[in-house]
Amino acid sequence: GRYRVISTKPMPGTRWIKLLTDQDCRVEICTEKKTILSVEDILALIGTKCDGVIGQLTEDWGDVLFSALKRAGGTAFSNMAVGYNNVDVDAATKNGIAVGNTPGVLTETTAELAASLSLAAARRIVEADQFMRAGLYDGWLPHLFVGNLLKGQTVGVIGAGRIGSAYARMMIEGFKMNLIYYDLYQSTRLEKFVTAYGQFLKANGEQPVTWKRAATMEDVLREADVISLHPILDKTTYHLINKERLAIMKKEAVLVNCSRGPVVHEVDLVEHLRANPMFRVGLDVFEDEPYMKPGLAEMKNAVVVPHIASASKWTREGMATLAALNVLGKIKGYPIWHNPNQVEPFLDENSVPPP
Ligand code: GLV
Ligand code: GLV
Repeated sequence: GRYRVISTKPMPGTRWIKLLTDQDCRVEICTEKKTILSVEDILALIGTKCDGVIGQLTEDWGDVLFSALKRAGGTAFSNMAVGYNNVDVDAATKNGIAVGNTPGVLTETTAELAASLSLAAARRIVEADQFMRAGLYDGWLPHLFVGNLLKGQTVGVIGAGRIGSAYARMMIEGFKMNLIYYDLYQSTRLEKFVTAYGQFLKANGEQPVTWKRAATMEDVLREADVISLHPILDKTTYHLINKERLAIMKKEAVLVNCSRGPVVHEVDLVEHLRANPMFRVGLDVFEDEPYMKPGLAEMKNAVVVPHIASASKWTREGMATLAALNVLGKIKGYPIWHNPNQVEPFLDENSVPPP
């Protein structure tokens, strides 16, 4: 192959490799055993000649790596993730490196995990599972692991983009929840869906579902029974959920985070979980991965999983394929396939920022 493309991790499937090798690329997959590569590890991988890199969300892609990639003759970098808070896009641009990400293929998979965590937290699935395995079940009781009924309750979505909207639809259609959402942009498609579904329910003699676009995030926190966080992580969403905002949530609310750990102030969250045993969380991401803040692991009202929201076979192979196409396209002289600055396809044309 004429072009040298590096993947910092083995990725699922083989199609992504074939795409590259069919197009004159030599693919080098890093086989380093440690889970998280340092900047130094990646510098060594890039070496003196490298056309493009597929990297992971655990890596710190800033000026050091992008200038090294530039020196090695590279032009393309793709994160194998939709989130790109680990990528300094300005530094990449300054070094003439195009940046790609992998939206779309993980939307439903991630939304399904958010739905799973919502149910697991609301119905105390993990606690109950641990109770069974510990041999503590000695007969049915009216009070045993009583949780929350979702039907007729309100689901709150903070960040109604691709993933947030898909999650909202699942919770509305699956459990007949009402919707309140907060986003800088209006999601008319989501609003139309809830309206139409409400009419369908009504025509069938059932209580219709309703929707509301909240003027402030606080309105969502105050009114919703299940709240799922789907913003990107940047300066404006860092510690979005803190002590003050937890305090205005319902005492028996469920909070789910499948976005990025630092969106939640985890120390404040642990304190809140301790003080409010009926408040429950489902967490896929953590502020300081792979660690949890002290106390979180002991909280019975927390369901925790290791950043697996996009972990379905179809999606992970799709992400690998998109990442490869991003890099390949740029190497071949096309604009990068998916880039973080592109207009979000889920936004309706008539979508307007908030008043
Ligand atoms: C995973 O967290 C992703 O951003 O794709
Ligand atoms: C519970 O198992 C019931 O039958 O109500």
